[in-house]
Amino acid sequence: MGTFGIAIALLVLPIILENQIVCGKQIIYRLKKCDIYQGGWVYDPNSYPLYDSSLCPFLDHAFDCQKNGRADELYLKYRWQPYSCNLPTFDGEDFLERFRDKRILFVGDSLSLNQWRSLTCMIHATSPQSGYTIKRIGGSSTFTSKSHNVSLMLARNAFLVRIDQQRYGRVLKLDSIDPADGKLWKEYDVLIFDTWHWWLHASRKQPWDFIQDGKTLHRDMNRLVAYEKALKTWARWVDKNVDTKETKVFFQSISPSHWNASQWGYPEGRNCTAERKPLVVAYPRSKHPAEVILEKVLSDMSKPVVLLNVTGLSQLRKDGHPSIYGNGAHLGMDCTHWCLPGVPDTWNQLLYTELIRN
Ligand SMILES: *[C@@H]1O[C@H](CO)[C@@H](O)[C@H](O)[C@H]1NC(C)=O
Ligand SMILES: *[C@@H]1O[C@H](CO)[C@@H](O)[C@H](O)[C@H]1NC(C)=O
Ligand SMILES: *[C@@H]1O[C@H](CO)[C@@H](O)[C@H](O)[C@H]1NC(C)=O
Ligand SMILES: *[C@@H]1O[C@H](CO)[C@@H](O)[C@H](O)[C@H]1NC(C)=O
Repeated sequence: MGTFGIAIALLVLPIILENQIVCGKQIIYRLKKCDIYQGGWVYDPNSYPLYDSSLCPFLDHAFDCQKNGRADELYLKYRWQPYSCNLPTFDGEDFLERFRDKRILFVGDSLSLNQWRSLTCMIHATSPQSGYTIKRIGGSSTFTSKSHNVSLMLARNAFLVRIDQQRYGRVLKLDSIDPADGKLWKEYDVLIFDTWHWWLHASRKQPWDFIQDGKTLHRDMNRLVAYEKALKTWARWVDKNVDTKETKVFFQSISPSHWNASQWGYPEGRNCTAERKPLVVAYPRSKHPAEVILEKVLSDMSKPVVLLNVTGLSQLRKDGHPSIYGNGAHLGMDCTHWCLPGVPDTWNQLLYTELIRN
């Protein structure tokens, strides 16, 4: 090899290393400095999707868009590329090794389910020999890797604060965490919370009859105000009860829906149904009001909580929703959840990156 060859090798080597070794000191240093949430979607058919849905035997019907008849495939092939670094390649074996004998808990609504399911698919597809069990009890499901004794639990919890059944009806208590929930949360090594979408539900889709704020009972109130109060209750609980040296805490930011195509300049489309490609640039927006509240509450906390800041990058993915290929036409259009494989796989690559660099 001549001087020229050596020069080329020296140039290429760091790039190869960056993609293969996720624990090198220099790479972690670079990742720590990188804003992994600023970037763009890049067409990368060689590496994406990260798994084939047929390799995820437990994939929920509602997320399995291909099986439900979605024929276009472009949406499967986009990689999130931060401007100032590369994300480490997701490696299920490495993930399981890092969390041997540990427990990871997702707490939240169906967007939590979406992300949890994506992570279990990613782990199973890249480390199929590990073996797994899945246990369901009520609103909870636990995926356990047999070889590494890592468990990933999903605890469905739409509001994080409690709902009490009283004689006069169901009461959403803005200033109280259910002690049973708190007890569960304390048992985990990694916690990933989310709540938002249910705060907007009204009438038949609303699972409470009254809101209790301190000693006052309301029939209803401004939902953003209620959301903020509940988040503050959750934040106080974390500040008081979690030792963040032992337990890492994350919050999945607001997952954007795509119900109104006028917002991205395509009024003929009406909703997400005809969308085949991501946007290159975010449509003009002021920040989502819930996002502003969430960021404020997190920044006022005394314990460090990592915001998985997926709102902006997901907003570009108007093509990523199940539309009619989710629960099926009879249950209507779905422009809220995400197809799998798909956008939540990127959320988990970002989670993986945060776990490595923190
Ligand atoms: C599996 O991990 C849990 C902690 O998450 C631990 O309590 C348990 O003893 C482990 N089981 C085995 C067989 O090592
Ligand atoms: C859709 O968005 C446009 C532009 O923001 C707005 O004018 C319109 O009222 C919205 N339509 C619905 C049904 O929300
Ligand atoms: C979604 O948009 C399509 C047209 O692109 C329209 O035919 C359909 O009725 C819309 N569905 C809903 C639920 O808005
Ligand atoms: C989250 O990312 C968006 C860009 O997608 C950025 O505008 C916003 O400031 C970020 N939020 C935080 C708290 O870093």
